[in-house]
Amino acid sequence: MITYNEALKILSEYGQEHILRYYDELSDDEKNGLLRQIEVTDFSVINDLKTRNEESGNRGVLEPLGAVTIEDIQKNKEEYLKVGIEAIKAGKAAAVMLAGGQGTRLGFNSPKGMFNIGENKELYIFQCQINNLLDVVKLTGEYIPLYIMTSEKNNSETIDFFEKNNYFGYNSSYVKFFIQDMAPSVDFNGKIFMESKSEMAVSPNGNGGWFSSIVRAGLLDEIREKGIEWINVFAVDNVLQRIADPMFIGAVISSGMQSGSKVVSKVSPDERVGVLCLEDGKPSIVEYYEMTDEMRFLLDKNGELSYKYGVILNYLFNVNKAVEILNNKMPIHIVEKKIPCMNDEGVLVTPEKPNGFKFETLVLDMIHMQDNCLSYEVIRNKEFAPVKNATGADSVESARLLLKENGVEL
Ligand code: UTP
Repeated sequence: MITYNEALKILSEYGQEHILRYYDELSDDEKNGLLRQIEVTDFSVINDLKTRNEESGNRGVLEPLGAVTIEDIQKNKEEYLKVGIEAIKAGKAAAVMLAGGQGTRLGFNSPKGMFNIGENKELYIFQCQINNLLDVVKLTGEYIPLYIMTSEKNNSETIDFFEKNNYFGYNSSYVKFFIQDMAPSVDFNGKIFMESKSEMAVSPNGNGGWFSSIVRAGLLDEIREKGIEWINVFAVDNVLQRIADPMFIGAVISSGMQSGSKVVSKVSPDERVGVLCLEDGKPSIVEYYEMTDEMRFLLDKNGELSYKYGVILNYLFNVNKAVEILNNKMPIHIVEKKIPCMNDEGVLVTPEKPNGFKFETLVLDMIHMQDNCLSYEVIRNKEFAPVKNATGADSVESARLLLKENGVEL
C-alpha cells in the first residue's frame, strides 16, 4: 500500500490535498483505509472538468437515422420470432441488468430494484424484470443467463434481496452478480467531497463500464464457454421492458448488423430522451440537451420529425464486437447530482439540491463504436415505463398506470 507521502503527492497533482486534512486524528485502521482508497481511485477524471467546456458540442456531422417501424416488424413477425427463438434455444443470448445506479432522483435508500411498486400486493421492481424475463423462458423453454451489475454500495443488499425472495422464481444458477467501478464526486469547484474524515465520497462511475466490469469479474470465460453471442443490456428501472425479446434478437440477427437499439417515437420535439441518429456515418446517440432547435424541429418529407426515435436503454450487443472495443476510451460525462457529504461539523448530510458533479461513462456511447445499429421501434405504452422520480413524469405514479394498462396486477 502507498505511504502518506506518496498519497500526498498524488493528491497534490490534482489539487486534492484536503483529503488528508484529518489524517492525524484517525485510528490506524482508518488511516490505512484512506490510503488504500487513494491508491485505487482514478483521479484523472477530474481533469475532464477543466476541459469539458472546450469539448462539449464537439460532435461530428449528424444525420437522421430511420428505424424498422412497428409496421415493418409486424410484417416480418414470424421470421424474426423464428430466428430469435432459435438463437435463444441455442444458448446464444444473455441479458445484463444495469443496477449499479444510486437512483438519487427517486430518493429511495435501498437499490432501486427493491422498490415496491405494488399497491395491494408486493411487486418489486426486480420482480417486474424477472417476470418479464420469465415470459421469454415460457416461450422458449430456455433460461437466459442474467448478469446483474451492482456497485460496491448496493451489491450485498441486492444479492441478499434476490436470495431472500428465491430469485422471484428464476433459476438462480443462471444469475450472476458483478460489481462496477466507482469514481470520486466533487463540488462545483472540483474538490472531492468527503463522506467522513477517513473516506472520500465516491459513487458508481456510470453504466458505460458494464462490459469491462464483466471481463474483470472473470465472466467472459463463462460467456465464451456457453457460446453466448448476443447480450441484451437493459436498465433496471423500466418496469415494462421486454428482456431478451426474441423478436428484437431475431430482427438484429436477420439484419446482419452488429448491434441493435430499441427506440420509441418521440411524443414531442422537446421530449427529454436521447435520439438515435448517424454521426459521421456511424450510429450515435445525441442527448436531448445536445440537440439544436433546428434538429429538434426538422421534418422529413412526410412531415414527421426527422430525429424521431428516442432510445429507452435497451440494447443488443455482439460479444465479439464488445471484446474488440473493450479498450476504447469512453467519453466521461459530468453530471450534476445531489451528493451526500460531510459538513464542517463532521456530520454526513444529504443536500436538497444538486451540490456537485459525478463522473460517468455511459453505455449509449458504445453505440458510436459500432459500424451499424438496428434501430428497432417498439410501442411506447407497452415497453416503456421508467421509474426515475417519485412523482410526475417517469415516476412511480406513471409507471403504475402503465403497468395496469398492460394487465399487470398491482
Ligand atoms: P440513471 O442514469 O437513471 O441513474 O441510470 P440512476 O443512478 O439509476 O438514477 P439517478 O440519476 O441518480 O436518479 C440508468 C440505468 O443505469 C444504471 C441504473 O441502475 C439504471 O438502470 N446505472 C447507472 C448503473 O448501473 N451504474 C451507474 O453508475 C449508473
